[in-house]
Amino acid sequence: MGKIKVIGPQEANGEITISGSKNSALPILAATLLTDERIILNNIPNLADVNTMIEILENAGKKVTWQDSTLIIDTVSDINSILPYGPVRRMRASFNVLGPLTIRNKYAKVALPGGCSIGVRPVNFHLEGLKKLGIESQIEHGFTHSKYIGAPDKTHISLPFPSVGATEHLITTAVLLENTETILTNCAQEPEIIDLCNFLISMGAKIEGHGTSNIKIHGVKQLHGTEYTIIPDRIEAGTYAILGAVLGKEITLKNIIEDHLFSLLDIFEKIGINYKMKKNTLTIKGISKLELSPVDVETATFPGFPTDLQPQLMVLLSLIPGRSSVTENVFKTRFNHVDELNRMGAKIFVESNTAIITGVSKLSGAPLEATDLRASAALLIAALIADGETIINNVDHIFRGYERLFEKLENVGLKIEYYE
Ligand code: UD1
Repeated sequence: MGKIKVIGPQEANGEITISGSKNSALPILAATLLTDERIILNNIPNLADVNTMIEILENAGKKVTWQDSTLIIDTVSDINSILPYGPVRRMRASFNVLGPLTIRNKYAKVALPGGCSIGVRPVNFHLEGLKKLGIESQIEHGFTHSKYIGAPDKTHISLPFPSVGATEHLITTAVLLENTETILTNCAQEPEIIDLCNFLISMGAKIEGHGTSNIKIHGVKQLHGTEYTIIPDRIEAGTYAILGAVLGKEITLKNIIEDHLFSLLDIFEKIGINYKMKKNTLTIKGISKLELSPVDVETATFPGFPTDLQPQLMVLLSLIPGRSSVTENVFKTRFNHVDELNRMGAKIFVESNTAIITGVSKLSGAPLEATDLRASAALLIAALIADGETIINNVDHIFRGYERLFEKLENVGLKIEYYE
């Protein structure tokens, strides 16, 4: 794991172009297993997680070629549905290949994804939903062994919580169950789910209601090849928007979809941050000269405020006079970054799933430990605004979610040193 050295405080000024969405790319790549025909995907971010999914597809019989930010995916051998432990264990989103592989080969063996530093992340909704679709699974020695025994003509699955991954996994499985109707209720409504469904529809899938909590799928016999362009990454955009508020003279973000950022912009308005949205461009002014108000924030499923921006927002709230709060409703123990921010002089107190934040006038540089992707991004923003030197250890998590990170930060005048 590498480390980052930053000397602060620094100021950011300029433009950042947002890359394609990681959380769209991963389920869409998993869904390419549903056809043997060629798939071309545009606007794919070249990230560690995307390359892990490519490794899985190659193990399953695909050949995947990068051409700039385009991926060309061809089938070069029979689909192999017995996958090695490493890549699946490394990344939870890779579990979404289980359903499609089982439908295609009637049997699949895929490692059970491991625990994660943002909290317990079970796959019970996935397995219970797949069972209703005719896929029986047994867990042995850390692997899921799944068999397709036939789906009923009509299935209704109500998710206990609108899980993004389970919604995506069940859609990706149900589309290829010929002559069946699947109704999913209490689905997640994230933009990445709409993107996955639009991709599947472009392959010939029959899906209605995506983007709402009720989705209806008519299974088809076959899906065909397609070319598809994925949406921009709203979490990358939100991270740079927060960075702009904390460090900016003025930061302009390009390739934004405004509807995907409403919950964050709403918080910016309550705090008193100046921003301007024009076409697909968002301009944010830094907070240093503004009169600011504290806010109470709760994370929620879309269209609520995303848990994946919670650590980054907490850095901003730490610098706002008064008492703010953040209640984490999606991953209730996702507060790994709090101790690290407190070591920099922040005043954050966690009780149950709520963090109470008392604003301070400045943060001070310190040696820090990064624990996960979004916590790493939060610590980097904090390091850039803090007085003096900060070293962030174990920082490589950050490359899972931020494409060309150092290049983008350098372009807005930020100086970061990275050591292997
Ligand atoms: C996805 C995102 C992740 C984001 C999360 C919530 C991807 C690749 N990852 O993760 O960045 O933080 O959505 O927006 O898109 N749960 C269960 N059982 C299950 C599944 C989920 O109890 O079978 C719980 C989880 O522990 C969590 C909640 O449901 O508390 C939401 O998780 P989920 O929406 O499934 O997150 P992911 O799809 O893993």
